[in-house]
Order: sequence, then structure tokens, then C-alpha cells
Amino acid sequence: MAQREQWGTRLGFILAAVGSAIGLGNIWRFPYMAFDNGGGAFLIPYFFALITAGIPIIIMEFGLGHRFKGSAPMTFAKAAKKWEWLGWWQVFVSFVISVYYVVVIGWALNYTLMSFNLGWGSDPSGFFFGEFLALSSGALTLGGIVWPIFFASLVIWFIVWLVLYTGVRKGIEVANKIFMPILFVLLLIMLGRAVTLDGAVEGLQWLFRPDFGAIMDYTVWTNAYGQIFFTLSICFAIMITYSSYLPEKSDINNNGMMTAFINCGFSLLAGIMVFGVLGYMAGEQGVPIKEVVDSGVGLAFVTIPKAINLLPASEFFGFLFFLSLVCAGLSSMISISEACCSGLMDKFGWGRQKTATGLVVVGFLASLVFMTNGGLFVLDIVDHFINNFGIVLAGLVEVILISWFFNLSSLKDHINRISDFRVGGWWTFCLKVVTPIVLGYMAIANLIGDITSAYGDYPMTALVLFGWCVVLLVIVVGFFAQAVKSSWESHD
Ligand code: ALA
Repeated sequence: MAQREQWGTRLGFILAAVGSAIGLGNIWRFPYMAFDNGGGAFLIPYFFALITAGIPIIIMEFGLGHRFKGSAPMTFAKAAKKWEWLGWWQVFVSFVISVYYVVVIGWALNYTLMSFNLGWGSDPSGFFFGEFLALSSGALTLGGIVWPIFFASLVIWFIVWLVLYTGVRKGIEVANKIFMPILFVLLLIMLGRAVTLDGAVEGLQWLFRPDFGAIMDYTVWTNAYGQIFFTLSICFAIMITYSSYLPEKSDINNNGMMTAFINCGFSLLAGIMVFGVLGYMAGEQGVPIKEVVDSGVGLAFVTIPKAINLLPASEFFGFLFFLSLVCAGLSSMISISEACCSGLMDKFGWGRQKTATGLVVVGFLASLVFMTNGGLFVLDIVDHFINNFGIVLAGLVEVILISWFFNLSSLKDHINRISDFRVGGWWTFCLKVVTPIVLGYMAIANLIGDITSAYGDYPMTALVLFGWCVVLLVIVVGFFAQAVKSSWESHD
């Protein structure tokens, strides 16, 4: 078997891991999650989830990838032969995420270009849903392809293909060395502008003022955990894959801590930037901040353009904001696709070029459904189900199997031997006890919630087709994939 590819430098690995973590989840999802879940109160479960699940799991995944030197399926197969399906389950979850994630980056790319003449006009909401997405009447009416979204997504797929095709060191590492510095500079410029706007303080107060009533609501906790998993790219095959390219001498614990803290620090800064601007907007319009915010998808593509319209030098700041979404999204998209690419390469012994090409072609075809008039509805359903029953459930199975049925202390010895500081009792306790209890509770609560009420009031047929079927399919296909003979078996 050919020598496994490796990162060129430690910085290269950190930038790639941070690049994967920082994505649409930080600039678009985090602010609206915080807004929808009690503002400052959301930060308490968020940091609790970071400390008890996020950091222990990222260190565990870095340790697994480093020790077994394999993509997720190969790593789990090496931990115990019959666990390979878990790796495939995570790979397929990644694939599903990639096919809609790419389309959201495509929207952002369109908006980046539109910002030159504020193409969304004076009614960003009407423009986004009506003119831009040309939304159909419902999830079951797909309509035709929306061409500007098609072309932008095609460009993003092409870049992903080029990067994967070129390899770990010359492709992924170089791409992140370009995107990450750009992204940090963009954020700093926007942050500097946002916090000096009149009324920014109102927005920040809103973000940081805790609504303690919200902490009693279990959905705030499940949202915080879900956000941590999504934002750290854990439990969907990515971090295992990236750490499998680490050299022997690698400080696993420090790398894990750094990735987690840089990512969450970025989210906080992005939150401050977004809420600073929203505070200004509320002040300009003389209304409370609650009334200017649209939640969900609307926050980035409706509320922000509205706010940009009011700013001095609107075109410039519009360009910076949407370009930052494109850069953040692309570096994450590359990691999501690499998790799939690497799984296939390990399993079948295929070359990188052939695998990357096949994957991107299939991914592109699958993403067509999200480029249609009904695409946003399908995206909303798939995103909800794959997050709640893909990432969270696969994460639950992963922590239970690894912490209870695998020799966790041998993994701990492995990572402590090569790391500067050691993980100890807290790490084991969080993985064995805290995280399984919280995730188990979340999984049951989510299941009951989705069975008893129709998510988003969508028709049952749409929820079954795009939600439950997709969730089941990724699990079932995982078992089939395990049954196929692996190329690593013939080399062991
Ligand atoms: N971690 C990536 C994000 O937050 C997937 O968007």
C-alpha cells in the first residue's frame, strides 16, 4: 500500500483543522442559534458542551486518527473489525451535508458578486425568497433549476475537486494557508467597523444578556450540543481523517485544545460583529433589536443585507461579509468532502485523482436537488434530520463504543505519551459518563419531538422522503459498505 500522505507542517495541520471547524456554522448558524436560544443564556450550555463534549471528543478523534492512520471507516475497523459501519455512517452523513452545504456557499458567492451594486435592492427579504431562490409553493414542488445557484455551486465543486485532486499537502494544506489568513483579516476589519457603530452596544448587550429562564428549556441544551458538534466538525468523519495525516511526533492534546478554542473564539467574534451591526440597525430604525432579526437562513441572507444597506460604504462591507462566508464555507466543504474521499481511497485502494473525480461528479449530481425552486425546503428538512439523527446519533454510538467497549486508557496513554500536557480523569469521565448521558437524552428527546410533531409544518410525505429516509439510508448503506472486502485487509 502506498505511503499515507502527511501534512507538511504542524501549522498546516492546525490551519486545516481550524479551517474545517470554522465554517458556515460560525458566521451564519452561531449568531442565530444564540439569538433563538435566549441570547447570553445560550452561552452557558454552549461552553458546557464545549468543555464536556467538544474538547474531549476532538482530542479522542485526533488520537484515534493518529493512532490508526486511517479514514473513519478504516480507523473504526482497526479499533474493532465489526465497527467499520460506524465510520461509513459518518462518511455518508458527511456526504449528505456536503451536497447542501455547497449550495449555501453558492448563494454566498452570488451575494458576494451582487454586493458590488447591492443587487438585493431595498427589500432583501422579497429578493432572497422571491427573485433569487424563486421559491416554489412547497417541499414537494421542486420546479426547475435556478441557474445562478447552479453556476455558483458548479464553481465551488470545481474548486473542491481541484484541491482534493492535488492532495493533502499541496492541495488541502495550501488552500487553508490561503483561506484562513484572508478570513481572519476580513473578520477583524468587519469587527472593527461593527463595534464602532452607533447602537452596537445595544446589540452586544442583547447577545450577552442572559435570559436565565431559557436555561431550563431542554431544547436550548440540545441546540448547544448540536452546535458544538457541527462547528467542531466532530462525529462526522472529518477530524479522524485529518489527524490520520499527522506525523508520528504530534502534540494531540494541544492541537485539539487549540482547534476548539480558536474555533469558538471565532464564533464569539462573529457573533459580536453580527449583533453589533444589528444593534446599529435597530437604532437607525428606532425599533427593539428583536424586531429586526430574522432567524435561520434569513439572518445571513436577509437581515445582514438589510443592515448592510444602512451602512456607510455598504458595497465594501457587503463584499467583505459574503466573501468571508465563501472562504469559511469552502475550507469546511473541502474537509467534508475529504472525509468521504479518504474513506473510499482506503477501502478500495483507489488513487486520489480517480476517487476525487468520481466523488465530485456524484456529489454534484446529488446537489442538483438543492438548486431547484424547492431546494430551500429540502435543504431545511435534510439539515434538520441529518444534524439531529446523523451527527448526534453517530456521536452517541461513537463515544459509547470507544469509551466503554474499547480500551480507552490505552488511547489515553497513546496521546499523553506524545502530548505536552496530559489528559486525565476529567477526559475519561466526560467521555464515559457525561457525554453519553446528555447525548442519549438528546437523541430520545429529538426522536419524540420529531415523531409527535411535524418539523417545520412540512407535509408528512416530504418529511419521510427527505428526512427519515435519508437518515435511515445512511445507516443501512454503512452496513452494506462494511460487508464489502477492504483493501486494507489484504495488506494487514
Ligand atoms: N464545522 C463546519 C461549520 O461550522 C462544518 O460549518
